[in-house]
Amino acid sequence: MAKITAPRGTQDILPAQSEKIRNIEALLLTLAESYGYRELRTPVFENTDLFERGVGDTTDVVQKEMYTFEDKGGRSITLRPEGTAGAVRSVLEHGLLNEALPLRVSYLTSCYRYEKPQAGRLREFHQFGVECFGAAAPIADAQLILFAKHIFDIFEVDNISLEINSIGCKECRAKYYEALKEYFESKKDAICGTCVQRLEKNPMRILDCKNKECRDIAKESPVILDYLCEDCKEHFEKVKEYLDLNGVNFKVNPRIVRGLDYYTKTVFEFVSDNIGAQGTVLGGGRYDGLVEELGGKPAPALGFAMGIERLVLLLEALDYKFPEAKTADIYFCNIGDNALKAALSLSEELIADGFEAAIDLVGRGLKAQMKYANKIGAKYTVVIGDDDIENGVLKIKNMETGEVSESDFINFAENFENLYLEQITQKEFEYLNIETEEE
Ligand code: HAM
Repeated sequence: MAKITAPRGTQDILPAQSEKIRNIEALLLTLAESYGYRELRTPVFENTDLFERGVGDTTDVVQKEMYTFEDKGGRSITLRPEGTAGAVRSVLEHGLLNEALPLRVSYLTSCYRYEKPQAGRLREFHQFGVECFGAAAPIADAQLILFAKHIFDIFEVDNISLEINSIGCKECRAKYYEALKEYFESKKDAICGTCVQRLEKNPMRILDCKNKECRDIAKESPVILDYLCEDCKEHFEKVKEYLDLNGVNFKVNPRIVRGLDYYTKTVFEFVSDNIGAQGTVLGGGRYDGLVEELGGKPAPALGFAMGIERLVLLLEALDYKFPEAKTADIYFCNIGDNALKAALSLSEELIADGFEAAIDLVGRGLKAQMKYANKIGAKYTVVIGDDDIENGVLKIKNMETGEVSESDFINFAENFENLYLEQITQKEFEYLNIETEEE
């Protein structure tokens, strides 16, 4: 029978990789907490209108990329293509915007977009994202960008570029749309069918089209920065000033429009050229109209999201030193049935104390058990035979140094813990000594 493989554009996260990702995610959530963000979890699927209204029905995401289906109750359901719309829906539904503002939420979610898979572009991918509600001042934009930059600092990524732009508010957008319409009207025959429709409904979306011809034509189009109203101009100047004050390098790229409709004023992207064509690792901006669009009282808001897979690609490309893979702390080899019983009880005690303890589950001989303990990288091993049970003393072997220590049965867990801590302290001491010598 033919083997069933994972659907195109999805990937399994195998144990070695998931350990790296768990580590990254823990750092991200901790950093988010330092900026006052608390984790929000929303459903993988939402009612389709949420994204049609929230993300925008002229975007590629809504027009071409959503996983939409009818459920058994005849409702139109969509797997979330991004995290912002669901976060806004959730904070509105639970009245969180009536509590202390600004409200800050973070999330780690899987997202689904029917795109052509390639390196860094998947149909199921994961985002770390944050959303801040109730802060209209440019200082909020600047702090959000500093937060995003902080992520790359934590992972020691320095060659990533920050590009920012302002796409203005409704008022500046109206004038800009006129200019764009005029520009693209004369090139109507050369742009794709979808963009011809966009020309009427939302001409800025043409700037985000993935079609090569449309992209080439868009290169010469008018830029939004020339159409900003005084208020938006001042807001953007302030954001830049705060970034400068904090020594942040950035480039103003007037062609960033982002692929989702909800943005207003500041937008930004962190782009790398280490991971191929899909170089945008993190993107975000302000979206002051979305809360109202989704039925809430008007509330300014802003946020960003980062693709976890793209961050991992980047860290791997830059040879980031991930923490060493976890291995068993101790492996109990047994000779005979009584020893196996003792191994099971001792391992339970150690597991209760937070250690990773393993025993033989498949009835291997002693030699094969030792081989297995080596394979799984057990830090310590103990061989238990009938004699040891009779004498009540066990030998604990440090697999790295070969040193052997003894412990009685009764105090085994306590003695092992002391031995373990001693070894860690010794290692730290050696490490510090090397550091001092190098200085
Ligand atoms: P976005 O730019 O569409 O923004 O996606 C954010 C990040 O998700 C991208 O920079 C990229 O790293 C990752 N990403 C997007 N599509 C894919 C894909 N097909 N495969 C792998 N990674 C992908 C948003 O989603 C906004 N909700 C961000 C935001 C939050 N704006 C305000 N708040």
